[in-house]
Amino acid sequence: MPEAHALISRHFQADSGVLVFGEQVSLDAIVAKYGTPLFIYDARVLDRKYASLRQTLPSNFSISYSVKANPSQAILKHFLEKGCGLEIASSGEFLQALQAGCAPESILFAGPGKTEAELELVLAKGIGEIHIESALEVERIAMISQRLGVMANVAIRVNPTGEALGGAMRMGGQSTPFGIDEEELEAIVDRICSHPALTFRGLHLFSGTQILDYVVLVSQYRKGVDIARRIVKKTGNPLHTLDFGGGWGIPYFGKEEELDTQQLTVGLDELFSEIRDDPDFTGTQFMVEPGRYLVGEAGVYVSQIIDIKVSRGKKFLIVDGGMHQHLAASGNFGQVIKKNFPVCLVNKLDEPMEETVDVVGPLCTPLDVLARGIQLPVATVGDFVGVLQSGAYGRTASPLHFLSHRSPPEVLVKEGEAKLVRRRGTYEDLTSDCV
Ligand SMILES: Cc1ncc(COP(=O)(O)O)c(C=O)c1O
Repeated sequence: MPEAHALISRHFQADSGVLVFGEQVSLDAIVAKYGTPLFIYDARVLDRKYASLRQTLPSNFSISYSVKANPSQAILKHFLEKGCGLEIASSGEFLQALQAGCAPESILFAGPGKTEAELELVLAKGIGEIHIESALEVERIAMISQRLGVMANVAIRVNPTGEALGGAMRMGGQSTPFGIDEEELEAIVDRICSHPALTFRGLHLFSGTQILDYVVLVSQYRKGVDIARRIVKKTGNPLHTLDFGGGWGIPYFGKEEELDTQQLTVGLDELFSEIRDDPDFTGTQFMVEPGRYLVGEAGVYVSQIIDIKVSRGKKFLIVDGGMHQHLAASGNFGQVIKKNFPVCLVNKLDEPMEETVDVVGPLCTPLDVLARGIQLPVATVGDFVGVLQSGAYGRTASPLHFLSHRSPPEVLVKEGEAKLVRRRGTYEDLTSDCV
């Protein structure tokens, strides 16, 4: 079975060849009402992924959804209702988190290059924890906290030494702007503990995204536990928090397999049962902050075929969406080799794959390709192309303004209803910030 079809049977349904969301709402009805291009999310898939994460982790873990994966208010509220906290990386994400109803103390702020204005904003509102990414940041947070007369809860993001790494995009284990090098950890802990305006809360390890191998995740978690123990021995107190970051992957390409959550459970249970009664971890809150794993599979980006042409023997389906709305699918969001996301004709799911085509967007650049050399049923103008696995790092990680198209809306299918959760941009939006 072609991979896109396998994903559809896993997460969605089809009726007479047309994609159906939430078991009841057909793609036809959604595009008739909201037009194309657009992003559609299925709340049942969000629920399934959340349940899978919960079941896989030991029961004493807490979960903070990583806002950067998909900052839509509806998505944030969905996870807040389940009791998640939020992980943010900017003041813009902080304000969106508050607007979704998140208590400031349930927010963690990680990421390099936090400005004074950003730190002042979050400290004044009483943020849960700030994750230190540099020595200078320690001084900056201390200075602002003193000025405001508040205590700042800080944890250290650790850039571990080279073992236990993996994933598609590494953010640790080498020279990196992220976190404090493991070798320098003790000196930074001393600096934090000596400062009256700072409370040292814990450690945060996050070295890479899109990890599909459970062995890599278990060894990263073990590394986190080992580093934590080292710091506990130094300070003489258990950590308040030990954050293992995000990074759980989903399959996008070719023969990629789903993360084996059964094996991951076995590995994590073994690790955490070893330390269950260890006084070094008494009272420590273990946590994760995933994005992609929770939302990636719930989203489909749908565009409509506007034109079909053959150039020197190669067939192109030209659609009304493209890389400006879904940069990742075009292979230009940190992907070394351009591989196709799972793509299909979402109104012809029961037709045989009879032709090889490129699916391209309307931008004036050869980079604007949603799929290269893929097999699809014979397409006609007006058909709909769906890019699956588009719920994370889709709209939010795209250069929406390039070529001045209106930004795409987002629809959440929940409890049998398709609700518009972000409207389509207007032409006025394109000039409203010009002075
Ligand atoms: C600090 C931090 N936490 C969490 C995440 C979410 O990662 P993922 O979507 O791979 O789970 C990221 C992603 O870059 C991150 O930088």
